[in-house]
Amino acid sequence: MVSINDEKLKQIKDEVLMCKSCELYKDRNGDEFQPVIGEGNHEANIMFIGEAPGMQEAKTGRPFCGRAGQILSELLLSAGIKREDVYIANLLKCRPPANRDPLPDEIMVCTHFVEKQIEIIKPKVICPLGRYSMKFLMEKFGLSDKVDGISKIHGQMFECQNDFKGIVIIPFYHPAVVAYNPPMKKTLLNDFKILEKFK
Ligand code: URA
Repeated sequence: MVSINDEKLKQIKDEVLMCKSCELYKDRNGDEFQPVIGEGNHEANIMFIGEAPGMQEAKTGRPFCGRAGQILSELLLSAGIKREDVYIANLLKCRPPANRDPLPDEIMVCTHFVEKQIEIIKPKVICPLGRYSMKFLMEKFGLSDKVDGISKIHGQMFECQNDFKGIVIIPFYHPAVVAYNPPMKKTLLNDFKILEKFK
């Protein structure tokens, strides 16, 4: 059965497909370069928000399905969480060229989509992956004074209120860090243990 959340999230997909708010839409071609909306449980308790699609994601239209995604899946498994039980999205819906960092203007014009995804899904826990997502989400949820380097605040719980209920923000290092710095896996595995209590 199609739920209200399914319909609302589908509407976001339609809006993203029409979006021309920044230059990134020009690279979209519906095949090798698709926008990546998000996927997972539409009623998830836990939502992960990365930065932007990479090459593999743009090819498939699915978030975190490349190397960083494999690492994310391993981390979820280690905390006893099924990938299909969480919702995974990104700050930006289109892939920046050569995987460069998101630009401030792109974040400004694109993040209303992820904000709507949060409003629809109403997760209890939001896990920003990486510093861009951490900064955006902490500022959005009134935690600007707590924003610090990701190396200082990774794995910590920040409680805040919003319109629908109390919400917990837990920033993590971006899983891609493990690809270029393998010893960081231990840190991420340790940080993800905190999620066991929100399953
Ligand atoms: N990195 C991200 O931030 N998001 C993805 O979907 C893939 C890699």
